[in-house]
Amino acid sequence: MLVEGNLDRHSVKGFSFQWKVRQGGAGEDTGVIYGYRIPQLVEWMSQTFFSHLDTTERQQWILDAGCGSAEKSAELAVRYPQHQVVAIDQSTAIRQTAARFGDVANLHFVQGDVLRPPLLAGAFNQVISIGVLHHTRSTQAAFDKVADLVEPRGGLFVWLYPREGEDSFWDGLYRQRDHHFAGLGSKLPIPLVMAWCRLYVKMFSNQIKDFLVREHERNCQIFPPEIYPVFHNRAEMIRSAVFLSFDNVMPRYQFRHGSQEVIGWYEAKGFGAPNTSYPGFFAARRSKHSDAAAEDVSAAESQDDE
Ligand SMILES: C[S@@+](CC[C@H](N)C(=O)[O-])C[C@H]1O[C@@H](n2cnc3c(N)ncnc32)[C@H](O)[C@@H]1O
Repeated sequence: MLVEGNLDRHSVKGFSFQWKVRQGGAGEDTGVIYGYRIPQLVEWMSQTFFSHLDTTERQQWILDAGCGSAEKSAELAVRYPQHQVVAIDQSTAIRQTAARFGDVANLHFVQGDVLRPPLLAGAFNQVISIGVLHHTRSTQAAFDKVADLVEPRGGLFVWLYPREGEDSFWDGLYRQRDHHFAGLGSKLPIPLVMAWCRLYVKMFSNQIKDFLVREHERNCQIFPPEIYPVFHNRAEMIRSAVFLSFDNVMPRYQFRHGSQEVIGWYEAKGFGAPNTSYPGFFAARRSKHSDAAAEDVSAAESQDDE
């Protein structure tokens, strides 16, 4: 069930356009998204942030909230054949995506809004949300909604834009959005924004390459190097930079959050202290029933009884 009235139309149109371009073959190379190698990234995330899923024999439900092209959701479904993965996104491209992964039996799709998820509170053992919640009207409200979907002792893993000054790679992207594009990427017609990104990347390809090489070297000191692709030629680098630029400048909302703020959200929802070892990444298990989740679960249960 998609309650469209609540959604930001620009965000739905922009991301749907982005995924359709990617699915049409004009985005990054297969296997790479946002300049990350998908299987290696998912393997690292699984081992680092929700390794309990490997040792849990009982079938668990995993939610990918804001799945986009769902290549990571599909990778998770294949990695965890004993579990079920639900992928939700507002994008109209989700029908095409569901058809693409139709043969992955433990992967299920829902077109829906993370601010009003049509899903049962407390239904998921692990919720994952990568680069999504800060694109809604209120990151914290979206965080609270997805947190309520986590069962007692379940896990919540999110990636959020770090606050300015916390990570030089993202600071570079914020300069692009706020200064080079003067915030206009979220206001202009979407195909025009894509054309602008293509022109921008072509014109500044030398500077972008230097920036990416510098940040890659720095990131390889923090993250495992195998999650990054080696660009074999300039055309591959340019395609990746166009995709990343569009994703950066197009959304209406791009809120940025400091670690302490996000730690507070986890605490308020009854989770333990999150792992904050990697910039922008947060992961924790629910240590106790938060009041909100407990109320939602019991409300849902009493509705079921009626
Ligand atoms: C930057 S993309 C990230 C996609 C995916 N998680 C990944 O890492 O490849 C953000 C995604 O969030 C989705 N999104 C944004 N706001 C949403 C909302 N209110 N409800 C559901 N999905 C939303 C967009 O449609 C888009 O696919």
